[in-house]
Amino acid sequence: MKRLGILLSGRGSNFLAIHQALRSGQIADAEIAVVLSNKADAPGLTAARALGLPAFHIPIAGRTPEQRDLAFVAKLQEYAVDLVCLAGYLRLLSPAFIAAFPQRILNIHPSLLPSFPGLDAQQQALEYGAKITGCTVHFVDEQLDHGVIVLERAVPVEDDDTPDTLAARILAEEHKAYPEAIARVLSGDYQVTGRRFLKR
Ligand code: GRF
Repeated sequence: MKRLGILLSGRGSNFLAIHQALRSGQIADAEIAVVLSNKADAPGLTAARALGLPAFHIPIAGRTPEQRDLAFVAKLQEYAVDLVCLAGYLRLLSPAFIAAFPQRILNIHPSLLPSFPGLDAQQQALEYGAKITGCTVHFVDEQLDHGVIVLERAVPVEDDDTPDTLAARILAEEHKAYPEAIARVLSGDYQVTGRRFLKR
């Protein structure tokens, strides 16, 4: 049984999609071991507690990024986590965090990387005039929204889209993409060649 650690800062809809995929068996032989947040009032943390999952706020005030990340790592190790899933966790991870879980941290980003990294990716796509955008699940490395891509799903941009309508259309794909990517990674049935995530 593989053990997932979820990090979130907000709503937590991707976390809930992962939870549902575990329940339905779409992601097999795995469970959520712990949910962590840098925000005490993150709705995702409340939702995790309501589901009976171990869920903790890791305070960041007065801590350096390294101290903060070591507190996260300690909690993830305490719960014997195999794979870390960032699900709307709005902080860059320090090198020490990444070194503690090499090629074992995933993130989801609401654009087709390498287009539109960083905040407000949906608005960036609209303002750029992109006709297709989407979402990307990737391994986390030390650069923002940069690591090896596990999978991407495309979403059309409609003429009457606002950032909110576009974000909602992308989010529906995120909820499919993240469980699918986790299942692929947990299967171990892949190899990484350069930047390419390939089936074995
Ligand atoms: C998603 O759009 C995700 O791609 C981005 O942050 C948002 C998190 O949403 N990284 P939720 O908290 O999972 O609902």
